[in-house]
Amino acid sequence: MTTLLKARSSSRMFKKCHTEVHTPVLLSQVCEMLSPNPGDVIWDLTVGAAGHAATLLRLAQPNGFLLGIDRDPEIAEIAVKNLEAAGFIRGKDFEILVSRFSEIASIDFPNEISKTPDIILADLGVSSLQFDEAARGFSFRNDGPLNMQMNADEKGSRNAADIIANCSLSELEHIFRTYGEEKWSRRIASVIVEQRQIKPILTTRSLRETVASAVPRKAWPQNVDVATRVFQALRIAVNNELGELDTMLEQLPALLKKNGSRAGIISFHSLEDRRVKQAFRAMTIGCICPKELPCCVCGHTAEFKLLSSGGLTADKQEVENNPRSRSARLRGTIRIKNADQDLGTLKNASHNVTNDMQSWHSQE
Ligand SMILES: C[S@@+](CC[C@H](N)C(=O)[O-])C[C@H]1O[C@@H](n2cnc3c(N)ncnc32)[C@H](O)[C@@H]1O
Repeated sequence: MTTLLKARSSSRMFKKCHTEVHTPVLLSQVCEMLSPNPGDVIWDLTVGAAGHAATLLRLAQPNGFLLGIDRDPEIAEIAVKNLEAAGFIRGKDFEILVSRFSEIASIDFPNEISKTPDIILADLGVSSLQFDEAARGFSFRNDGPLNMQMNADEKGSRNAADIIANCSLSELEHIFRTYGEEKWSRRIASVIVEQRQIKPILTTRSLRETVASAVPRKAWPQNVDVATRVFQALRIAVNNELGELDTMLEQLPALLKKNGSRAGIISFHSLEDRRVKQAFRAMTIGCICPKELPCCVCGHTAEFKLLSSGGLTADKQEVENNPRSRSARLRGTIRIKNADQDLGTLKNASHNVTNDMQSWHSQE
């Protein structure tokens, strides 16, 4: 469901956070990689506090337009406020929609121009504004209700406390192992199941303590809290983050219609980065001939090119200033050929491949 953000009344979170900023990660790398031109249409699929968005939009002036998407209505309000504070005019320079990026292909576009992007950016995960707000329940640093939903109004959504209270031991183990790559998944899940029979686990601190009690002290990780992986896993499960990413990646080639249009995705852990890397690689495939053929007969050439081979990471200075950037990795791709340019070639190609396969086999 897409909602044009209408409410201008300040939410609880907005009142508390409007002077705080989410420091955008890899900002200079994003600008360099996606290099906006005047008049470009930018889609920021995770607009957040509009840190990246405001900078990209400024570089796209005059006549640039930003379509910002965020699934979290409270964060979307902050994006509007920050973009207006940066001097942009809503409706003329930008529009913000509350939506999940998996639904981008079917949203109600605010105007004709916003339908065809030159630049698409996604900066995955949660913003520090969400993370630092105890009432949102994303972190054990401040005690709060075990929530973790980016948008509680989304149909079928359930919060972290529901998962902890109702999932079976094997379901919990699966969540911690798959989304947190947590070695102690089985033991943690079983301690949670024991504990919840004595007393419901309803707060971030009580979950953190339960996890800590399940893992032997000498096995605690050195650089992060013992509960970090479990919290990451729960957040991913609550918000179906990997499903969202997979759907968006599937749609990406068709969304980047124009020659020269480009996308950048910032991921924060290997589960996301692996998906982005594989999807971008698949988009750059050229020859589609069967491996058995001695030479190419399909004539198919790649529609996309990678904008960096291994992905860009933060330098030492940025990591010092913003520790969140430590695990960030930016990958990018650019359309180098129109999809329909290739349709004729592809039709001929499949014909050629069939003929060549037949003559190749008849010679064997
Ligand atoms: C890391 S923050 C983005 C910060 C932003 N780049 C900035 O500079 O302020 C990620 C944002 O993406 C949003 N988000 C996460 N998953 C989403 C999804 N599937 N669809 C839309 N927004 C999503 C979160 O609500 C959050 O505000």
